[in-house]
Amino acid sequence: MTPLPNIAGAASLLGDSVAIRALRAQIERVAPTPVSVLILGESGSGKELAARALHAASERRKGPFVAVACGAMPAELAESQWFGHERGSFTGATDRRRGYFETAHGGTLFLDEIGDMPPPTQVKLLRALESGVICRVGGSQFVPVDVRVIAATRHDVTQALRSGSLRDDLLYRLATFVMHVPALRHRDSDVVALAHAHVAALNARARTAKTLSAASVQRLSAHAWPGNVRELHHVIERAFILADDLLDVTPEAVPPYDPVVRGATLELPRVVTLASAQHHFITASLAHHGNDKPRTARSLGVSLKTLYNRLATSTEQTEQTEQTGQTRQPCR
Ligand SMILES: Nc1ncnc2c1ncn2[C@@H]1O[C@H](COP(=O)(O)OP(=O)(O)OP(=O)(O)O)[C@@H](O)[C@H]1O
Ligand SMILES: [Mg+2]
Repeated sequence: MTPLPNIAGAASLLGDSVAIRALRAQIERVAPTPVSVLILGESGSGKELAARALHAASERRKGPFVAVACGAMPAELAESQWFGHERGSFTGATDRRRGYFETAHGGTLFLDEIGDMPPPTQVKLLRALESGVICRVGGSQFVPVDVRVIAATRHDVTQALRSGSLRDDLLYRLATFVMHVPALRHRDSDVVALAHAHVAALNARARTAKTLSAASVQRLSAHAWPGNVRELHHVIERAFILADDLLDVTPEAVPPYDPVVRGATLELPRVVTLASAQHHFITASLAHHGNDKPRTARSLGVSLKTLYNRLATSTEQTEQTEQTGQTRQPCR
């Protein structure tokens, strides 16, 4: 089987939404500069793809792109993995080995999930980044390394700093330029375009001409995609395997997504009944005010009696619609 096509540069980030066009423009602008970039975004949203696009659009494109999963490394091996080792420097070091820094020389070092790196390794990494030289384990010489660093995390960095899992000095060194990869649910009609593009890529690989059914397109655009583009690709791939000609994305493949509370914000799925939206909104306000109903009523600008009435009716309506299965109506 031939691999899926590999488009280089910012163009590899498909989509025509305002958010993704802005991201492509940022990539093109920052790529020619030498600055470190920190990429933030939810899991599966395309952080690594954005990092690869940045590398491909930079003058380092002919150099290596070395991606390192920062959390997936045993602490005792970390130093040798990052900086390499000399022959005989420890039991089992039968040869001299280059570490990630030397391997990425002349190219880009992508630090994936920076918040998962053990703090002692963060100190060593920062020292190497600031000095531009490394010393192999068991070595006595400093080796100059020329790398551009791109880091990524799906975690809330403020929270990571507060908990101590991420050092502030390393973060400031890495975050000269911060990019946000938008969640798929914030990219307008990109969902459908990405779905068609993935079907086309799978068709090209399998030499088929399968298409998405109209009902599938409807379901795909109604879903909120908590797993972002990766989830979309998996859903399409499953439907592709099962389809003869027409891909059928079943309702079970894209189950309803619960509302999410992020700080002071409540996010609701883009298709939801008014009763359910009201119910979730009142419940989230109550939780925010520690279940204090008079305070909640005041903050919502209604009387306590109205709050009780709304609570009773919204719970009743939500239960009814759930029983009749009419919980999700397209809003567009
Ligand atoms: N805009 C896009 N256009 C085309 N494919 C995309 C886009 N965004 C993401 N993808 C694809 O979605 C998948 C997930 O992307 P990627 O691995 O870059 O996400 P991530 O943010 O690094 O995820 P994680 O946080 O889990 O590491 C990949 O197959 C990638 O090619
Ligand atoms: Mg990733």
